[in-house]
Amino acid sequence: MKITVVGTGYVGLVSGACLAEVGNDVLCLDLNPEKIRILKDGGIPIHEPGLDQVVSRNVAAGRLHFTTSIEEAVRFGTVQFIAVGTPPDEDGSADLQYVLAAARNIGRLMTDYKVVIDKSTVPVGTADKVRGAIAEELVKRDVVVPYSVVSNPEFLKEGAAVEDFMRPDRIVVGADDEQAINLMRALYAPFQRSHEKLVLMDVRSAELTKYAANAMLATRISFMNELAVLAEKLGADIEHVRQGIGSDPRIGRHFLYAGCGYGGSCFPKDVKALIQTAASAGQGLKVLQAVEDANEAQKLVLVDKITRRFGSDLSGKHFALWGLAFKPNTDDMREAPSRVLISELCKRGATVTAYDPVAMDEARRIFAEEPRLSYAVRPMQALDGADALVIVTEWLEFRSPDFSAIRKTLKSPAVFDGRNMYDPALLLANGLEYEAIGLGIKRN
Ligand code: NAI
Repeated sequence: MKITVVGTGYVGLVSGACLAEVGNDVLCLDLNPEKIRILKDGGIPIHEPGLDQVVSRNVAAGRLHFTTSIEEAVRFGTVQFIAVGTPPDEDGSADLQYVLAAARNIGRLMTDYKVVIDKSTVPVGTADKVRGAIAEELVKRDVVVPYSVVSNPEFLKEGAAVEDFMRPDRIVVGADDEQAINLMRALYAPFQRSHEKLVLMDVRSAELTKYAANAMLATRISFMNELAVLAEKLGADIEHVRQGIGSDPRIGRHFLYAGCGYGGSCFPKDVKALIQTAASAGQGLKVLQAVEDANEAQKLVLVDKITRRFGSDLSGKHFALWGLAFKPNTDDMREAPSRVLISELCKRGATVTAYDPVAMDEARRIFAEEPRLSYAVRPMQALDGADALVIVTEWLEFRSPDFSAIRKTLKSPAVFDGRNMYDPALLLANGLEYEAIGLGIKRN
């Protein structure tokens, strides 16, 4: 099939590369010329494990191309995926300007049948708006060209995006015309050879399904985070509680980890957008509002622990920070808890030296104006001259550090762990104070 992917970000690039991997001809469009230049030069503008091989293999095979030309992109694919960003507007609702601009471009230039697929995460009713935007452009041109609009939300996880796309656990398709449904079945047939994964539904239900999934996952995290705060007060240990409840199959073990708040490009904005969608439908979502409030509070939990230990004025204090990305295996720092932490520590007069295996360039861009933040090339180097170590992202390489070296290097023997990575007994044995999330009792 000839496929155009509009928007070559985390979702667009992974989708385009994986669709090429199964034999399709794919053209990825982005309006950011720098991204397209990097890709045309053989580079990858984001960090995503395994993506470079899939991209280079398919570029070499002549199945994957990149462009900034809207005309070329609209002409190319019978299938037109829209995978542009849907950032939060001022009131938290999803900003649809990029989605609708992409739809208008298609309507302005299409000359034959197109299936337009919303892959971006968009509020219920967006497919109707996309259909309307295309229709308006066709009316302006005084032409009749057939097209279908389909909702096909994406569930890939950054850090495991290629694997998720190649082996999805479900493929949600919202469509209401037979021609589009048949095309979607053919498009996804190579990704569901073992068993049927396509969950076919009406367009509005598909749009809501994506928000429901992210809202449910965010709810589990905020629930555990609130319980962790309570566990500390009650002298209980949230890690024991997690194991105790996760073994119940009705609950399950995934997404029960207490931490210093969720971030990333999806959960925070999708939770806010669903709250806004509900509000404009005249309904309050009390549970989800609490999820959002709990997460905002949780991003400050490490700062609270640090100021309790060192006082609220942190002038002259220096902190080593391990982890900048919102989660391991990505360089994405959108809404990352590290951003709140760095800003709060610097505001209180502290200086910070950060280390992250892949997100330091992104941090340099975000914190270009922050002279109190510097970077280390190795994890242990970040500890030089530091009063304490703060951990925000659970990268694999932080799992088993040399605790006695940490003890010797830090001025105060304090480790603040926002991801509960270590056995407290081990740190105590090495003479370190260990502050993690929800550890009300000392396990030894
Ligand atoms: P991104 O910000 O990485 O990429 C979006 C790209 O679209 C940018 O490169 C931008 O330059 C480009 N763009 C904007 N307007 C355009 C236009 N009219 N024509 C061509 N290109 C245009 O965004 P990301 O993270 O890939 O997300 C895209 C959508 O997918 C969002 O709605 C997001 O919520 C959703 N999503 C994201 C996931 C993730 O893990 N990042 C997972 C599942 C869904």
